[in-house]
Amino acid sequence: MADLDDLREGVNFGLGVADTQRRSFHVKGAGNLAWGMKDRLSRIFNPKTGKAVMLAFDHGFIMGPTSGLERIDLNIVPLIEYADCLMCTRGILRSTIPADTTKPICLRSDAGTSVLTELNDNVLIDIEDAIRLNVSAMAVMLAIGEEAHEAQTVANLYRAVDLASRYDIPVMGVTAVGKQMARDARYFGLASRICAENGANIVKTYYCEGFEKVAAACPVPVVIAGGKKLPEKEALELCYKAVNDGAAGVDMGRNVFQSSSPVAMIQAVHAVVHQGITPEQGYELFLDLSK
Ligand code: R5P
Repeated sequence: MADLDDLREGVNFGLGVADTQRRSFHVKGAGNLAWGMKDRLSRIFNPKTGKAVMLAFDHGFIMGPTSGLERIDLNIVPLIEYADCLMCTRGILRSTIPADTTKPICLRSDAGTSVLTELNDNVLIDIEDAIRLNVSAMAVMLAIGEEAHEAQTVANLYRAVDLASRYDIPVMGVTAVGKQMARDARYFGLASRICAENGANIVKTYYCEGFEKVAAACPVPVVIAGGKKLPEKEALELCYKAVNDGAAGVDMGRNVFQSSSPVAMIQAVHAVVHQGITPEQGYELFLDLSK
């Protein structure tokens, strides 16, 4: 084990200095990857903007029919056309998502339980099933800092990367937030970097103060989860700040599907992420589209 006695906090994040390796490809850290990987990543991250609005609706795998996801056919299917990528479980994909959607799928590829938290992940989908579903990415959660689960979830990520990379399928590492985990840049920076170092091609984490350091020190694109439902204007501010601080987009759930107008909200989020409109403009757009 490395000597941790003199472990020094990172201080020089080169903030404001563009990633020197991104010249050849629009997705951070993907310049050296194979054609299949690049193709799948390009389905998720728009080649013109380098950004993505992923719509997350995998919550039911541990929460059941939570608010806004009672009827995926009614709640989510109408949003599909406005999303860049759909993040869901295989059960919902097969049962409810029209197979003629051309949207890329980021498949929730691990398992959780409704008891306590989703941090018990030690199950990984059969890679052949992911291939059958023609997914563009596989998502696996990491519980960094959770003594009982960290090793198991890191092993799960390893397994996912080993299997998925045989078929050029990118893996998204999802950083968990447990009760005892701090929600700060130090924690999210650590967790995001561990995901990337262990082979994740995309990292999903949370926005926090100092997020620019989290994004700068992560060698692959970081997308943010939305977290609990906020008023629409605040959720749009969150998207704006995250992208401004280096996020490659969002993987958002509740702040879209629990909105008073999910169809308007996802379009406003899309405009903030891809066009860089301000949160105020985004909110105006939301109000207009909600009429
Ligand atoms: C992550 O593992 C979760 O299952 C959700 O996909 C994630 O939290 C994103 O959803 P939300 O924006 O509602 O936090």
